[in-house]
Amino acid sequence: MSSNSSFGIHDLSFATTEYVLSHEALAAYNGTEIGKYHIGIGQRSMSVPAADEDIVTLGATAAAPIIARHGSDRIRTVVFATESSIDQAKSAGVYVHSLLGLSSACRVVELKQACYGATAALQFAIGLVRRDPDQQVLVIASDVSRYELDSPGEATQGAAAVAMLVAADPALVRIENPSGLFTADVMDFWRPNYLTTALVDGQESVQAYLQAVASSWKDYGEQGGRALEEFAAFCYHQPFTKMAYKAHHHLLHHTGHETDKAAIEKAIGQTVAYNATIGNSYTASVYLALAALLDQADDLTDQPIGFLSYGSGSVAEFFAGTVAPGYREHLRTEANLAAIARREPVDHARYRELHERSFPSDGGEHLTPRQTTGPFRLAGLSGHKRIYQTR
Ligand code: CAA
Repeated sequence: MSSNSSFGIHDLSFATTEYVLSHEALAAYNGTEIGKYHIGIGQRSMSVPAADEDIVTLGATAAAPIIARHGSDRIRTVVFATESSIDQAKSAGVYVHSLLGLSSACRVVELKQACYGATAALQFAIGLVRRDPDQQVLVIASDVSRYELDSPGEATQGAAAVAMLVAADPALVRIENPSGLFTADVMDFWRPNYLTTALVDGQESVQAYLQAVASSWKDYGEQGGRALEEFAAFCYHQPFTKMAYKAHHHLLHHTGHETDKAAIEKAIGQTVAYNATIGNSYTASVYLALAALLDQADDLTDQPIGFLSYGSGSVAEFFAGTVAPGYREHLRTEANLAAIARREPVDHARYRELHERSFPSDGGEHLTPRQTTGPFRLAGLSGHKRIYQTR
C-alpha cells in the first residue's frame, strides 16, 4: 500500500419509507401557519414507516443495491448505527446481515451516540480498511425519528437509512485527517429505554448544536485542518434543514467571516433537498445531505467538502472529504429520486394511527398488516422474536 492511499466512501445508497405526511396536512390539523414549517424550520414533508417497516427493513433496503453492484466477498464487517434500536442486546445489523445473505465470516455490531453514530461508524470503518485495504466495511445508518404527538418536535420527525461501502481508493469521497472533536454532557435530547418517543429540550438542543459546531471547528483548526475558504460545500446534520443554515451562519460569524445570505446558500443550498422532504433521519441525515449535494452539484471533482456531524447528548465531529475523480459515474441519482417519489401520501388520521402502533409485550404471535411494497418486511413478532421476510 502506498503512503498516499486514500480511504472513504466507495458507494452510497439510501432508502426511506412507504408513506409520507405533508407538512400542509400537519399544519391544517394543528392550526400552525404553514410558513413556520416551510420557511421557519425548512421542511416540506416527513417519511412515515408502514406497520411492517422498521430500522432493519430500511437498512437492508438501503444496502441491497450496494451488494448487487459490488458483491459481498470483501465485506468482513458490518456496522449498524442507530438511536432507534429494536433490541437491547442483539445488533439490528445481524438481521440485515441475514436478509442480505452475507458471509458468516463477518463481524457485525451496532453503534449508538444519537445522530453522531454513523460518523463514528464511518471513522471506525476507515480504521479497519486502513489496516487491511483488501477488506471493505458496510456501514448502515438507520433511524425512525419519533416524538410525542402534538409536541413541538412532531414537525421534525422522519425516517430513512443510508448504507455506505467504506473502502480503499473510494469512488465517491476520500475522507481526510484530521477531525475536530467535541463531547459535552448535556440533556438536550434523549430517549430512556422505557419510552418509545424521544424527549427534547428544543431551544436548548439548538444552542447545544451551535456550541458543538464552534467547538469541533476549533479543534479541527488546532489539529491542522483546512481553512474555511477551501470548502466547496458543507454537509451538516439536518434535524430540520433550517438548522444547517443556522449552523453555517454561526460558523461564519464565529470565525469572523461575512454572513451574507448568498454565501450561506452557496455552501448549504444543494445539501438540503432530500432532508427537506424525508424529515429527520437522525444519524443518516448528514449522509443524505452528501447524497443530495453529489446528485445536484456541478462537477465537484477534487473539491473539499466539510462535514459536521452532531449527536445530542452530545458528541460532534467536523471533518473533510474530497470528491473522487469520476464520482459521477457511481452516483445513484435516479434511484434516490425514486425512493422519495414512490412514497404514498397518508392523511393525518392515518399518520396518527401508524404513529401510535406498538407490539404488545406478552410474547404472543402478533402479525403486521402487509403494507410495504419494498423488498423486505417485518412480518410480526412471535415469542418475543421479530420475524422478517424478503418479498
Ligand atoms: N413564517 C415563517 N417563519 C416562522 C413562522 C411563519 N409563519 N412562524 C414561526 N416561524 C419561525 C420562527 O421565527 C423560528 O425561526 P428561528 O428559529 O429562525 O427563530 C422557527 O420558525 C421555529 O419556530 P419556534 O422556535 O417557535 O418553533 P418551536 O418552538 O415549535 O420549536 C424546534 C422548533 C425547537 C426545532 C422543535 O421542532 C423541536 O424541538 N424539534 C426537535 C429538536 C431538534 O430538532 N433540535 C435540533 C438540534 S438537536 C439535533 O440536531 C439532534 C436531533 O437530530 C434531534
